[in-house]
Amino acid sequence: MTIEDPYELAAQAAAAIRSATGIDRHDVALVLGSGWAGAADRLGDVAADVELSSIPGFPPPAVAGHRNLLRSIDAGGQKLLVFGGRSHLYEGHDAATVVHGVRTAAAAGCGAVILTNAAGGLNPAWPVGQLVLIQDQINLSGHSPMVGPPPPEDQPGRFCDLTEAYSSRLRRLAHSVDSRLADGVYAGLIGGNYETPAEIRMLATMGADLVGMSTVLEAVAARHLGLEVLGISLVTNLAAGLSPAPLAHTEVLEAAKEAETRVVDLIRGVLAGLAPE
Ligand code: HPA
Repeated sequence: MTIEDPYELAAQAAAAIRSATGIDRHDVALVLGSGWAGAADRLGDVAADVELSSIPGFPPPAVAGHRNLLRSIDAGGQKLLVFGGRSHLYEGHDAATVVHGVRTAAAAGCGAVILTNAAGGLNPAWPVGQLVLIQDQINLSGHSPMVGPPPPEDQPGRFCDLTEAYSSRLRRLAHSVDSRLADGVYAGLIGGNYETPAEIRMLATMGADLVGMSTVLEAVAARHLGLEVLGISLVTNLAAGLSPAPLAHTEVLEAAKEAETRVVDLIRGVLAGLAPE
């Protein structure tokens, strides 16, 4: 699907969310990565559940470990909009479709987005199950949500500043909730396959600590629209060549399941810290 005006489509999606949830304005969005979907059940009081693909512009999630669910949650006074799944470039979607959730969250009123993912770890000291705050990213996907016609007049211009792609304020808050969190640079590739050991050595030389197939375009789109971004990776495997075993999606999902309680505690803690006094 090629989107003609992604900002107009996001406005339509936000209007559909308002009417489906009865909630006029959400505060924070949460995008759940591979295997993170179960976290949506334990974050607070469910205000409304909507089939994600019933909202304009959202294709049904087609990757195992993702849910076709949009959930509005009252989480400690914050109106949280949870996307139970996301679209990826490797599914054949274009950049505008991949970032549609983030643009919709902005149009729904969100001032911050929490992007989560499963990632391969390049730091051999990190065990499977390590939670890592993304401190910066390297977009190696060859795509950007800022490619295409310029944004409409009522939106910020194209060349958005990415000096602080990931909010240091939100990272400080997360560290205060969970002292075992690490920090790292996330390299986002187009994916569809895991990397070769040579590619992982290249990424390590470039300064990457984590590798995955999502998140980087969403972070760009979020910063363009002024949202604060918190990125959280769950290391589900050591990256290719560092891992003693071949990589498999089922193991990624198992590692995510085991980390669920820590993940839920972290997100709940961050949301509580964001709530107005
Ligand atoms: N590489 C890319 N994406 C991933 C990995 C990996 O090793 N693990 C989970 N997502």
